[in-house]
Amino acid sequence: MTDLLLLPGDGIGPEVIAEVRHVAERLTPDLKLAERDFGGVSYDRHGSPLTDDTLAAAKAARAVLMGAVGGPKWRDAPRHKRPEAGLLALREGMNVYANLRPAICFDALADASSLKRELVVGLDLMIVRELTGGIYFGKPRFIEDLPEGGRRAVDTQVYTTAEIERVARVAFELARGRRNKVTSAEKSNVMDSGLLWREVVTDLHAREFSDVELEHMLADNAAMQIVKNPKQFDVLVTDNLFGDILSDEAAQLTGGLGLLPSAALGVAGAPGLYEPIHGSAPDIAGQGLANPLAAILSFEMALRWSLGRPADADRVHAAVVRALRSGARTRDIGGTLSTREMGSAVLAEL
Ligand code: IPM
Ligand code: MG
Repeated sequence: MTDLLLLPGDGIGPEVIAEVRHVAERLTPDLKLAERDFGGVSYDRHGSPLTDDTLAAAKAARAVLMGAVGGPKWRDAPRHKRPEAGLLALREGMNVYANLRPAICFDALADASSLKRELVVGLDLMIVRELTGGIYFGKPRFIEDLPEGGRRAVDTQVYTTAEIERVARVAFELARGRRNKVTSAEKSNVMDSGLLWREVVTDLHAREFSDVELEHMLADNAAMQIVKNPKQFDVLVTDNLFGDILSDEAAQLTGGLGLLPSAALGVAGAPGLYEPIHGSAPDIAGQGLANPLAAILSFEMALRWSLGRPADADRVHAAVVRALRSGARTRDIGGTLSTREMGSAVLAEL
């Protein structure tokens, strides 16, 4: 059985995943790694961004670690064949409905944030984004020609009580192991799906999690509060689209996308999907400039949440912190190290 399936993907994906391989080979040589094509590279080679073979391998592994997908090369591919469609199909196929996106500010990088140092130093915010429902998957969706001229596009935002409840449960359980506070963000003032979201979270809280502090916040206000006073949040749970937007916003607070990992989890025991939250960065791909830390920290999350190796996860985390403290920096965080050199700086601290 494969322990960790690597999906390097496109752009800087292969470069950052190569550094994960080095870390895994050093720290956990007993883990069985495998690799498959995914994203644009898979479309080029096999005519589909997610082949049946890759999906089957992902479901059969204990954890899946993706690099990045997409790029200008595939902009004109049919929409359902685009790399991003492959990613959505992988999330749906693996049924990983709860996406954990931590925004952690490493002390050594507090000055790299676009906010004042005191607002972000010590920041440890966990966004829990619903990942397999909402407007990303809702039907109907189409663009149609109108008889009177012009066109009309429809996307559908749809949530069931079961979908809301299972992701909210993940948020409450996480909060219990942290600072015991959940903020739930929606637009219950204008959307029926937001109204249901608020009701279901409130009910679940009353039934099972009344020991956890719960706060409801409209998603637009949440966007503002994240830049006003990010440390007021502990766990922030929200839907697929708001979570996409708010997690990019939160990431920027920490000094850059190059550092942030994510974990997408499904039912207990099923494999998790781990990805750095940065994209494929086609502008710097293949040049050895990418920061491998987000991918390495995604490996840390895989060790913790899917592979049952919290001590090894702690080792990876500590090595990254020490490498940053020693001044190791790739270009995105104000340094000159290459991807390989940054990976080596982490290895040296392991
Ligand atoms: C993300 C990305 C994806 C998303 C894209 C690449 C489909 O922005 O993981 O946040 O929108 O979910
Ligand atoms: Mg996004």
